[in-house]
Amino acid sequence: MNTSAPRRIVVGVAGGIAAYKACHLVRSLTEGGDSVRVVPTPASLRFVGEATWEALSGQPVSTTVFEAVDEVQHVHIGQQADAIVIAPATADLLARLAAGRADDLLSATVLVATCPIILAPAMHTEMWQNPATQANVATLRQRGLIVLEPAHGRLTGRDSGPGRLPEPEQIAELTRSVLAGVSLRRDWEGRSLLVTAGGTQENLDPVRFLGNRSSGRQGWALAEIAVQRGAAVTLVAADTEDLPVPPGAELIRARSAREMHEAVSSRAASQDAIIMAAAVADLRPARVAEAKMKKGRDDDALSTIELVENPDILRGLVEMREAGRLRPGVRIAGFAAETGDSSHSAVELAELKLRRKGCDVLMCNEVGVDKVFGQPTNGGVALIRRPEGECPERRTIAQGSKQVVAAELLDIIAEQFRCQM
Ligand code: CTP
Repeated sequence: MNTSAPRRIVVGVAGGIAAYKACHLVRSLTEGGDSVRVVPTPASLRFVGEATWEALSGQPVSTTVFEAVDEVQHVHIGQQADAIVIAPATADLLARLAAGRADDLLSATVLVATCPIILAPAMHTEMWQNPATQANVATLRQRGLIVLEPAHGRLTGRDSGPGRLPEPEQIAELTRSVLAGVSLRRDWEGRSLLVTAGGTQENLDPVRFLGNRSSGRQGWALAEIAVQRGAAVTLVAADTEDLPVPPGAELIRARSAREMHEAVSSRAASQDAIIMAAAVADLRPARVAEAKMKKGRDDDALSTIELVENPDILRGLVEMREAGRLRPGVRIAGFAAETGDSSHSAVELAELKLRRKGCDVLMCNEVGVDKVFGQPTNGGVALIRRPEGECPERRTIAQGSKQVVAAELLDIIAEQFRCQM
């Protein structure tokens, strides 16, 4: 049980159809142990009424500065908040905030607050792409507010495009990450990043495959944080848990190691950084049976499976770089899932792997049946390659959510970009 005092989160709701999704956001935050005060704009009450917010948050709801005037709410709510998250943030609200207006309780609260402020825009694509909205977003970001990238997908009508509210759980997770100290500054703006995620599956016959325990969550977290830091992200995913597409990322499915190899190699030349977070099968069955394999047959196919090696995608990327086939200055990172053995610790094995693979950064985590794979947290030691002959730098990454770990790795790679400038 969480015994620390609940954090005070203000959930602002502006007047858009996505207001109903904020109900799930409030639920997710309160279930996580946070205290939530909902501040809807007057227009948003036409979509979701006060009673819903009061019931979900267990707190009173006001929309204008003229309610409970004796409590000076327009100052107190903002002053006491640990974070403000506004979902949906409409084009109109972004314009009012950029202009510094205080014409309702929500905009006044934002003006008073010194805590992190996260805005999750939701509107039609044309409104989002309109230069007026983009200028407001740029102004707000420049003032230190976090304006999330919207998701791509189905909008209110039949149309589809960027402008959709990210899933409530994604907004809640990003809010938790910001509260845990993750910075969503736009230092990856103008950079492209390819991330792989999940565990590859290698077919054996029409019903069986060889796979592994990877959930894809670490790759997902890297994509989610990188998009919000401004990167153009391609996420190449093998088998994963059922996770919503990270808002703003391009998702490409590649089931087997060879499919992933093809998907990564064909896109590698246009990347500034590539992170191999996928658990790629080293070996695959030499033959894929056309019919279901049976036990007790003459050739006893099920008890003896011949395996052949898969391409090493990470090593292949380093070779492409050595051959001048990738962008100059491209950064290549991998993960090393290690258990350690009788003669080497997990980190020592990872150092050997860093040398073997030739990548720039290798994140070493110790794995076990209930460690890392499928778990919400991660941690370990990031090994950073140094000039030939020198030992790699070891940077400890404390156990934290996979988004917190993702942010630290993206910091390390961003540092390397800065060094080469
Ligand atoms: N990797 C890869 N292609 C493979 C196997 C692994 O690109 N065929 C990448 C993984 O995505 C990871 C890194 O290499 O970023 C290390 O993966 P790991 O499985 O720990 O290393 P292996 O090379 O498979 O070494 P071993 O299993 O023998 O420890």
